[in-house]
Amino acid sequence: MALNIFILLFLIILHSELPCSNAQTWINVGYWLSDSGLSIEDINSPLFTHLVCSFAGINSSTYQLSLPSDEQLFSTFNAIVKQKNPSIITLLSIGGGNANYTAFSSMVPSSKNGEPRQILKGFRLAKLVLGLPFYGYAWTLDNPEDNVVGSPANGSAINAANGAMAYKAVKEYMKSNGVISMYNATYVVNYCTFESTWIGFDDVEAVTTKVSYAKEMKMLGYHIWQISQDDNWVLSQSAQDVKDRGTGKNRQLLIIVLLPIAIVGLLLGSLICYLKRRRRLIKSEGKMNED
Ligand SMILES: *[C@@H]1O[C@H](CO)[C@@H](O)[C@H](O)[C@H]1NC(C)=O
Ligand SMILES: *[C@@H]1O[C@H](CO)[C@@H](O)[C@H](O)[C@H]1NC(C)=O
Ligand SMILES: *[C@@H]1O[C@H](CO)[C@@H](O)[C@H](O)[C@H]1NC(C)=O
Ligand SMILES: *[C@@H]1O[C@H](CO)[C@@H](O)[C@H](O)[C@H]1NC(C)=O
Repeated sequence: MALNIFILLFLIILHSELPCSNAQTWINVGYWLSDSGLSIEDINSPLFTHLVCSFAGINSSTYQLSLPSDEQLFSTFNAIVKQKNPSIITLLSIGGGNANYTAFSSMVPSSKNGEPRQILKGFRLAKLVLGLPFYGYAWTLDNPEDNVVGSPANGSAINAANGAMAYKAVKEYMKSNGVISMYNATYVVNYCTFESTWIGFDDVEAVTTKVSYAKEMKMLGYHIWQISQDDNWVLSQSAQDVKDRGTGKNRQLLIIVLLPIAIVGLLLGSLICYLKRRRRLIKSEGKMNED
């Protein structure tokens, strides 16, 4: 009977845990670059809560905004990404790597200069998103045999800026050279080596661990730079799945696994009770017959 009560209690507790509505906000931001080669139609927008369309330019003397020559593209962004995800929030990013930062700071009243450090200090984790790089860096090792994290290298391995390599390019590289990605949990980084080339990047393990960490720290969410570098949405999907594991899916699994166990337990308990009662009945009947 104690077992039955325990199982019942457990079911009640499980049930009270059930409501899957997650009041806490959790945001997944993806950056889309107009010149990245990924068309707006091909953006898998259900994987994000926010998408950033980039970049608009700014005139350093008039502060007027300008869109790239493919202005048409920007005007259709909203409508297209909302087709697959009507609740998505879109943002326009101004600037980019080649932006004139003096122009930005000249827009800020001078009395506010010197405040950024103060502002940064005041940021709470709950207002920050964790950045996820969908690219890695390729290095040339000094010694191909010495290829753990932190091994000496003598510079970037490819001609791209600083040896930067999109995740999908890293995957392609690994496939064509028949190497697999290793994971170092201490540094939360994946890497692969082929001959004297060493590439450090974030694969599924690193992304999953980082997003779990952001959840654990009760951060606001994560931010992807940038979505065209993903390989068939593998990283974006695994980042989103961490959220699901923490809430809905986890409980679903609990129910799928534990509910049948609980029911079987209840049935078994009842059966034992029934058998015991029957034995007692038979015994007392026997006694009665003896009398
Ligand atoms: C900024 O605007 C001014 C005035 O319209 C124009 O003369 C200038 O060429 C613009 N600068 C750039 C970089 O577009
Ligand atoms: C950058 O912006 C500043 C301030 O508006 C301006 O003085 C400067 O000429 C700009 N530089 C370039 C390279 O456009
Ligand atoms: C870096 O290492 C590569 C491969 O061993 C070698 O060819 C190259 O000369 C080295 N460069 C420098 C600057 O040491
Ligand atoms: C990660 O790499 C460092 C440096 O090579 C090594 O000391 C450490 O044991 C590695 N950690 C894991 C979990 O592999």
